[in-house]
Amino acid sequence: MKRSNLNIGIIGIGNIGLQVLKQLTLNSQLNKLFSVESVLVRDKQKYTKIISEDNEFKNEIDNVLEKITDNEDDFFSNNNIDILIELIGGIDPAYRYVKRALESKKHVVTANKDLIATHIEELLQLSKDNSVKLRFEGSVGAGIPIIEVLSDMLKQNQIKKITGIINGTSNYILSSMFENSSDFEDVLKEAQDLGFAESDPTNDVEGFDAKFKINILGSIAFGTRIPLETVYVKGISGVSNKDMNYAKEFGYNIKLLAITEKSSEGIYSNISPALVSLSQPISKVGGNYNAVEILGDLVGNLWIQGEGAGKNSTSSAVLGDLMGIYYRSSDDVNLSGNKENYLSKEEVMIRNYIRLSVEDKYGVLSEISGIFSKNEISIASVIQKDIDNDQDVVDLVIMTHDSKGVNFDIAIDSVSKISSVKEKPVVIRIND
Ligand SMILES: NC(=O)c1ccc[n+]([C@@H]2O[C@H](COP(=O)([O-])OP(=O)(O)OC[C@H]3O[C@@H](n4cnc5c(N)ncnc54)[C@H](OP(=O)(O)O)[C@@H]3O)[C@@H](O)[C@H]2O)c1
Repeated sequence: MKRSNLNIGIIGIGNIGLQVLKQLTLNSQLNKLFSVESVLVRDKQKYTKIISEDNEFKNEIDNVLEKITDNEDDFFSNNNIDILIELIGGIDPAYRYVKRALESKKHVVTANKDLIATHIEELLQLSKDNSVKLRFEGSVGAGIPIIEVLSDMLKQNQIKKITGIINGTSNYILSSMFENSSDFEDVLKEAQDLGFAESDPTNDVEGFDAKFKINILGSIAFGTRIPLETVYVKGISGVSNKDMNYAKEFGYNIKLLAITEKSSEGIYSNISPALVSLSQPISKVGGNYNAVEILGDLVGNLWIQGEGAGKNSTSSAVLGDLMGIYYRSSDDVNLSGNKENYLSKEEVMIRNYIRLSVEDKYGVLSEISGIFSKNEISIASVIQKDIDNDQDVVDLVIMTHDSKGVNFDIAIDSVSKISSVKEKPVVIRIND
């Protein structure tokens, strides 16, 4: 039986929204399934000009222009709309719009990680209460079908762990530091000039963007809403060229890893730079690419990689979500609301790389190793590197075995107080 077309309302036609509008208007396959009913913008004049001057719309200009409105009430009272596509980003007013659409029994597709990570439980419940779908594949890894894969795996697997590179800007910066031995600040500037980093890069380089994304993945994987405040976050702004070079020398790369894992003790989610062995596939994910590794109890490790941003990749996810709604796919995300224990960095076992600048004199190493030993941290290797200076200061690079996070904090605090330790210790976790 042929299904009737579904009518679409779009809010926001920026980078992603404009590409989605083009595909829905100009792609003859999509035209058979969907019709754009209305497009809500803030400034009608601005978007009338943008559409009119866009050559790709040339045969459809009048058709598209008559759909554009800046009247919120007209848009929401349009009962012909079956699916709302929200592509404005941020929490307000996106939250209000998405809620209003679900409450009036419209399906919703969004690529908004901030909104989903913050309100996933409530919005999923609202979609169920109103018998409509809420889809958000584009919110993590753009066009990489990670949410679809996770939902599919969950039918027969228990997910143990997800490890991802899910912030393209940080990955671009770290990849460039690894390949060209450049400093963080220089690469950041280059990334901004090339349009790979925003003028205010805080969300990307300090790990906040990745925090929202791993929170969404962890919540889906473990079927429970992971509180955002339980995700430990450390960004890449403290990663130096010197540490990248040492990592390389010892057979590692440094990547910003997003990890969420569930053990018998609880769920631990974290974003932090990590040394990754060059023999691990994730160490080779370069440029602004994203990659996610999912460990399931039956399937083992699954690996998925692709462009984690951009209008084509993200619109692919949005259009895929529309298809899922059209074909009534039943891969819905379910959160059980189970009470879980959430672990902090202090409670989990970690292996660390530690770099210390110390005076090159008798007894310093034994004092440091004494502190580690007292805190039950066992050292895997210590390498002394002479540095070119006239102050008799050397770098000590220590790789440890697994130890409890809290023990590291105590040990590093004590080590940093030794008078022969000349700079704040650098600590980067090692991902095995
Ligand atoms: N860009 C990517 O590669 C990417 C990847 C994955 C996910 N996403 C997500 O996709 C969403 C859209 O991203 P984007 O890159 O397209 O952002 P963008 O280029 O900044 O576009 C946002 C658009 O929303 C419009 N807008 C803002 N508030 C509005 C409102 N109240 N009513 C109507 N329109 C409003 C803006 O219009 P004005 O001209 O009025 O400001 C602008 O056209 C975000 O949630 C983002 O996180 C983006």
